[in-house]
Amino acid sequence: MERMRNEIRKVKALTNKPFGVPFMLSYDFSLIPLMVDLFIEEGVPVVLDNGWLDPEIYAKLKNAGIKIICRLPNPNLADALKAQALGADILVLTGFDEGGTLPMKEVGSFNVLAEFVGKVDLPIMLAGGIADKKAVQASLALGAEGVWVGTAFIATTECRSHQKVKEWIVNSTANDLLLFRTEPYYYRSLPTQLAKKCFEMSENGATRSEIAKVMNAGTGMRLGMLEGDFDNGYVSVGNGISQIDRIKTVKELIDELMG
Ligand SMILES: Cc1cc2nc3c(=O)[nH]c(=O)nc-3n(C[C@H](O)[C@H](O)[C@H](O)COP(=O)(O)O)c2cc1C
Repeated sequence: MERMRNEIRKVKALTNKPFGVPFMLSYDFSLIPLMVDLFIEEGVPVVLDNGWLDPEIYAKLKNAGIKIICRLPNPNLADALKAQALGADILVLTGFDEGGTLPMKEVGSFNVLAEFVGKVDLPIMLAGGIADKKAVQASLALGAEGVWVGTAFIATTECRSHQKVKEWIVNSTANDLLLFRTEPYYYRSLPTQLAKKCFEMSENGATRSEIAKVMNAGTGMRLGMLEGDFDNGYVSVGNGISQIDRIKTVKELIDELMG
């Protein structure tokens, strides 16, 4: 908790612009109420709910004047309407093109959007495979009011990812990625030795839990993405890597996306 408090204070010292923090930071769900209290104490302006949709937490955050972004990892209309009724301020819809933990349904980002526009009375941000200005414009044209971007920031100068990871992203396209089953549903990675093993297991019918053990969740990600160990780690990125042609600063990236 204290580490989180320090990280929030670092952000507050760096900017007076609004920033957001997710409250689900580990699989230890008992930390969630403690995180919520900490965010209120520290005056965090925006909180991300990863589809937890807990009425008490929403009420507490709203009473404290905190804006809530609800990102549905598995977008469905019932949950979107629930988020709206609970008082979410923004809805993020996550398509199958994203990096990180993939949704259960293999629906690409643009068609996820098509299912919700006009049916939910909340501003929608689209997530998954958006890494350049053209993709932002396409998302807006399809009815999104904003975009939610992860992978493109991994290839920025400021990101803590290993330099070899940034270069590999620049030199790869979505076609190079390996998609495999794991817990809870799917993951994709640049073709490290570990990712090749997970892919082979997935193709050969191993169970999700068998593959998840080999993938080694947070450790596999740290080794691959932060330490550049492409034997024992994986590199989780989205299909948007096809749009990334050089390593940029965060400012250059944001100027391009918003331009
Ligand atoms: C390496 C990696 C780790 C991620 N970890 C989380 C996470 O812990 N919590 C979360 O809400 N989203 C996580 N995401 C997903 C992002 O919030 C976002 O939905 C996604 O990056 C958007 O798609 P894009 O990567 O194609 O831009 C992660 C994404 C990546 C690439």
